[in-house]
Amino acid sequence: MAEFPWLIRENSSYENERNSFSNRHPGGNYNCDFILSTVSGLITTSLFIIFETPHFTMAENLIIAQSTSREERYKVLVPQIEALTSGEPDIIANLSNIAAALKQTMNFFWVGFYIVKNTELILGPFQGPIACTRIAFGKGVCGASWKARMTIIVPDVDEFPGHIACSSDSKSEIVLPAMKNGEVALVLDVDSDQLNDFDETDKLYLTQVMGMIEKMI
Ligand code: SME
Repeated sequence: MAEFPWLIRENSSYENERNSFSNRHPGGNYNCDFILSTVSGLITTSLFIIFETPHFTMAENLIIAQSTSREERYKVLVPQIEALTSGEPDIIANLSNIAAALKQTMNFFWVGFYIVKNTELILGPFQGPIACTRIAFGKGVCGASWKARMTIIVPDVDEFPGHIACSSDSKSEIVLPAMKNGEVALVLDVDSDQLNDFDETDKLYLTQVMGMIEKMI
């Protein structure tokens, strides 16, 4: 932390974190920075060329102190996710960045989305090892969450009947649904390589993220 004093925040609040992110990225998700680069001619004339690149998009930076507790990281991350996604209407872009933000910040083993298409869940944006591409209604933890329309926490995947092991390294799991028009539209699946790694704190903050996603879909 000593090397990164800007990571230390006092009076951190949801509004502060969201606004701080927006201030660091004033274009929101449309960071079409107009780069005015003057290139002085090295040859004979002092020709100034102005380049304008309206489709250049900056990578966003999350500011999260890794040394803090998981709950503290959620508190700082969730408003930044809101700021990160608020200006972007494309759902795939937003799900991709949400998966990356959660994976990077929380060091989970696998973070990703399965999207309802007809009678199956189809693999969506994710971060982590390659994963199963299709899950039937009611199957595995993801299918069970879809069927039950509720969040499921699995402390030990070996104890969950019908668990689908995309990776033998996955030991515990949480799956949360996002609803559209009263139906499950997609689920967020987060896997850990540690047993019993998810609890009500994860459910609380990940539910807030799912609430943001529900407003996008
Ligand atoms: N374990 C999940 C399948 C998805 S992978 O873990 C990425 C399940 O049982 O539904």
